[in-house]
Amino acid sequence: MEQRNLGRSGPRVSALGLGTMGMSDLYGPADDTESVNTIHAALDAGVTLLDTGDFYGAGHNEMLIARALRGRDRNDVTISVKFGSLRDPEGGWGGHDGRPQAVRNYLAYSLRRLDTDHIDVYRPSRLDPSVPVEETIGAIAEQVKAGRVRHIGLSEVGAETIRRAHAVHPISDLQIEYSLLSRGVETEILATCRELGIGVTAYGVLSRGLLSGHWTPDRQLTSGDFRGSSPRFSRDNLAANLRLVEALRGVARSRGATVAQVAIAWVLSRGGDVVPLVGARRRDRLTESLGALELTLDPDDLAAIERAVPAGAAAGTRYAGPLMQHLDSER
Ligand SMILES: NC(=O)c1ccc[n+]([C@@H]2O[C@H](COP(=O)([O-])OP(=O)(O)OC[C@H]3O[C@@H](n4cnc5c(N)ncnc54)[C@H](OP(=O)(O)O)[C@@H]3O)[C@@H](O)[C@H]2O)c1
Repeated sequence: MEQRNLGRSGPRVSALGLGTMGMSDLYGPADDTESVNTIHAALDAGVTLLDTGDFYGAGHNEMLIARALRGRDRNDVTISVKFGSLRDPEGGWGGHDGRPQAVRNYLAYSLRRLDTDHIDVYRPSRLDPSVPVEETIGAIAEQVKAGRVRHIGLSEVGAETIRRAHAVHPISDLQIEYSLLSRGVETEILATCRELGIGVTAYGVLSRGLLSGHWTPDRQLTSGDFRGSSPRFSRDNLAANLRLVEALRGVARSRGATVAQVAIAWVLSRGGDVVPLVGARRRDRLTESLGALELTLDPDDLAAIERAVPAGAAAGTRYAGPLMQHLDSER
């Protein structure tokens, strides 16, 4: 599989990474056996980047990865872990904690749950507004020195925070939502990353399934499914967003590809410093996603895609109001 670098200082990884969040959280029930089989299929296909968060399923996601990696060579895999988001026993959210003592605490638990002695890329999931980012990054940098963390990443922060963090320790990559429907990163953040030699791991490349070509308006969501409260899936916005998907389907058909493959290939085409994370949680979805690597979009394709889904065309914000408040990247 094609390899890409996570920034100037980061690891070399497969051009597509696997995000495992939905295997434990936020998208309704998942099947652990199928999740492990999907991780195995990804590794066997050449995917080397696995992205998780310690708060996905309150630790469940890390334990799932540990289970999937049992008997495999740990050194073949780059594990990216987000920390800092606080949960409660009902699955609710309680803000973010980026204090140095919290960093050490989170890391201790993640290492144990992942059954490993190091994490390849460790990143705060959000900026904790009550802690200067220098303190959070400084605490991770101490763990780099101690050999428990290899690289430091960021998630959903804006240009100024990126510069401040990078001044403390080289940042490998910024994880941020980037898709045909979410292009805010193109305004300032992407240029800042490129100036500083920081890569981008793009998430939500299928806009959480909305842009997959498989979404239907009558899909029933279980309680706790993130998409039940996402503005882009709301009754008011869904029809308009699905019209964009149908326009994209026309482009996909002309290339003998699926909507999901075109959406992922578009993110891949943004530059060699962008690594899309696909959120497949079943092997059939993974196979479809990996097919995007076979699809090279030429200028005519890109122009047709732009006509189908112009920048800024999405109806609704990418998170609901209170969650938008946590995005330093949107300030
Ligand atoms: N840094 C952050 O703030 C942040 C936030 C969110 C996610 N992430 C990371 O990014 C990863 C990917 O994000 P995401 O799950 O939101 O991404 P996504 O790729 O936009 O959405 C994944 C969902 O799309 C649906 N889908 C339909 N067809 C698919 C196909 N062919 N291939 C893959 N998925 C298909 C699946 O939902 P169904 O199975 O329900 O059909 C799947 O769970 C996460 O696992 C996580 O590691 C990071």
